Amino acid sequence: MAKIILTGDRPTGKLHLGHYVGSLRRRVELQESGEYDRIFIMIADAQALTDNADDPEKVRRNVIEVALDYLSCGLDPTRSTIFIQSQVPELCELAFYYMNLVTVQRLQRNPTVKAEIQMRGFAESAVEGDTQQRAGIPVGFFTYPISQASDITAFKATTVPAGEDQEPMLEQTREIVHKFNSIYGPTLVEPEILLPTNAACLRLPGTDGKAKMSKSLGNCIYLSDSAEELRKKVMGMYTDPDHLRVEDPGKVEGNTVFTYLDAFCRPEHFERYLPDYASLDELKAHYRRGGLGDVKVKKFLIAVLNETLEPIRRRRAEYEQHIEEVYHMLEAGSKTARATAAATLDEVRAAMRINYFDDRELIESQAAQYRAAQQK
Ligand code: TRP
Repeated sequence: MAKIILTGDRPTGKLHLGHYVGSLRRRVELQESGEYDRIFIMIADAQALTDNADDPEKVRRNVIEVALDYLSCGLDPTRSTIFIQSQVPELCELAFYYMNLVTVQRLQRNPTVKAEIQMRGFAESAVEGDTQQRAGIPVGFFTYPISQASDITAFKATTVPAGEDQEPMLEQTREIVHKFNSIYGPTLVEPEILLPTNAACLRLPGTDGKAKMSKSLGNCIYLSDSAEELRKKVMGMYTDPDHLRVEDPGKVEGNTVFTYLDAFCRPEHFERYLPDYASLDELKAHYRRGGLGDVKVKKFLIAVLNETLEPIRRRRAEYEQHIEEVYHMLEAGSKTARATAAATLDEVRAAMRINYFDDRELIESQAAQYRAAQQK
């Protein structure tokens, strides 16, 4: 069976280090590995609109930002098809059929959707919506796991590189595939998620030490941040609040600077930027013992991050001078993606037997039935 990747991001802002270690870096490695027959990378503007209906301009303007981030990280449009979700209307039709295979109750149990409803402060019951004057849950938002199943299955994706918050979406997708195939015959492919292997990458905390990097919390380091912005953010980063003097023993667990080092640092970085230590384990041991100041560790982290980010910044600056071409690339990618999705949709319609005009057996048998009735 062909090995196919599909993944994507909502264009609600520029991409940050959480996106990078959670999925972006992996995608580029997978692209370079040459092990996949097709790679589809989707800018999920339609999904972004499910909870940004009142701010379409934000979504619209961020499509190019996400595309620039992709290209500057090394996604290569000659090897990976980069496209815009809304430009593939076949995805909506698929979702429309899948909606019949999923219950409201099943959607209500989706832990990611649940958490997002909490985070956005939507009223959860009809009564609450009325009495507390809180906005209710948009239907499109509530059903986005189904739309995501369309995104994945339209391309017959076998592999979805993503963060662990996407696991419930994959589970939902596999259930839909299973149900569809058992009712209509084998048509769709069950996908697998490909999670980051390192715990720090699974959920990179924000610079303030909070569980997640998130634009609304203002705790992000963006791929497009300048070296100076990066320096300021790292210098202000949350460490161990009890590590007051250099001599004090410090905690490494929950210390954001060390979590970032877990996600980014490689042994060769020590030779280059901190030759007094041979490895991250040695650095951590010294910090735990006491006698190692935060500033020294932060300066090391800045050097490590800059080594990763400098080539990304350079490529971004170049692509920023070619916005027209980037839109052209997205247009071509969307055309390619649409053709693939349309082919799957043809198979889906045939499996569901709603391809009436191709169905000679249906037309001829009904014609014969009425001819026979007339002749009696
Ligand atoms: N839900 C993803 C995000 O929030 C975006 C997305 C939409 C996606 N469709 C997808 C990711 C399909 C993987 C597969 O960023």
